[in-house]
Amino acid sequence: MSKFYKTAETFIPGEMTLPQKYYTSPQIFAREKERIFDRTWFCVGHHSRIPNPGDYFLQEILGESLIILRDREMNIRAFYNVCRHRGTRICEQPEGQFKNSIQCNYHAWTYGLDGKLIGAPFMREIAEFRWEDFPLRAAPIQIWEGFIFVNTNLQSQPLPFDELFAPMQGRISPWNPSQLKALHRERYELASNWKYIFQNFNECYHCPTIHPLLNTMTTYISAENDLVEGPFLGGFLDLKKESMTVTGRLCALPLGQLCEGDDKRGYYYSLLPNLLLNVHPDYLMYHIIFPHDPGHSTIISEWLFHPEAASRPGFNPQDAIDFWHETNLQDWHICELSQQGVQSAAYTPGWYTPRESLLAAFDRDYLKRMEE
Ligand code: FES
Ligand SMILES: [Fe+2]
Repeated sequence: MSKFYKTAETFIPGEMTLPQKYYTSPQIFAREKERIFDRTWFCVGHHSRIPNPGDYFLQEILGESLIILRDREMNIRAFYNVCRHRGTRICEQPEGQFKNSIQCNYHAWTYGLDGKLIGAPFMREIAEFRWEDFPLRAAPIQIWEGFIFVNTNLQSQPLPFDELFAPMQGRISPWNPSQLKALHRERYELASNWKYIFQNFNECYHCPTIHPLLNTMTTYISAENDLVEGPFLGGFLDLKKESMTVTGRLCALPLGQLCEGDDKRGYYYSLLPNLLLNVHPDYLMYHIIFPHDPGHSTIISEWLFHPEAASRPGFNPQDAIDFWHETNLQDWHICELSQQGVQSAAYTPGWYTPRESLLAAFDRDYLKRMEE
């Protein structure tokens, strides 16, 4: 059983927000790529998005386009969307299904779903050409609780996944995340630095002012955290009603066998570099963040439900979707206003309050990684 701390218990008075350059400087962003993004694992979504052999979607990460697909053996793979002939972008449709192979539209070089080069017109005539040397380039991939993670650094090894993810081991397993099915997805484009999205997620100090509806569903001072240091942070909020929905009622089948108390809590975890988890008794909603430059990020949000949720009388996923879509827009807007403010010559770091101890913890871990 984890130990939980009240937010103020882990607060260190005097900690300040980050200096301006961390939100605006292209040099800092380049350093973040080298020190954080290249070493860690980007979540690209939940495996229920590609249930059948050949299903794929494209995901852009820091300027690289990746094909995330399910192969014939039901393994999930990630390939760079770059032809091994003359480097052309192979696949343009953002999602779909490959029949048995992936073909470049330029000169019809063709790859198996395992990435192997299986067709290249006229290259059989070249005895010296080694077909096995020209598969699609693969990105390392890991699956955790049904979520797909990739690393996009071709130069060196990422941090070992199991070691990095040790603090999250088993943490959300009771909600059976790998069994869940995504029923809704939203994409949001933000004029905001990626860290503002993490920092905003890690406090509910703003809930009374920014989220009038959410604020009726939970007592923000009830927050208790079991991950209070390092790359993964978070804990729970007590629910005043049955779930975080517009009506406050459960909208679908419970996700798992939840222990006493967990059916009355929402759990919220941020996982460096890009995953934010919102775990509720009857659905799981997550965000994945893709930074583009210091001032712009894309967020993809998905709502996951019990695979048999539709069989429950009163199944109403819209109750959860509408609740978070409205809440998300409130959060994203305030992140954009933070970005606008930090660009001002008048910005100087400000004091964190006792309700923002996780933000100070995020900054400490971030700065340590940036300096290593
Ligand atoms: S560049 Fe892809 S087949 Fe020629
Ligand atoms: Fe919020």
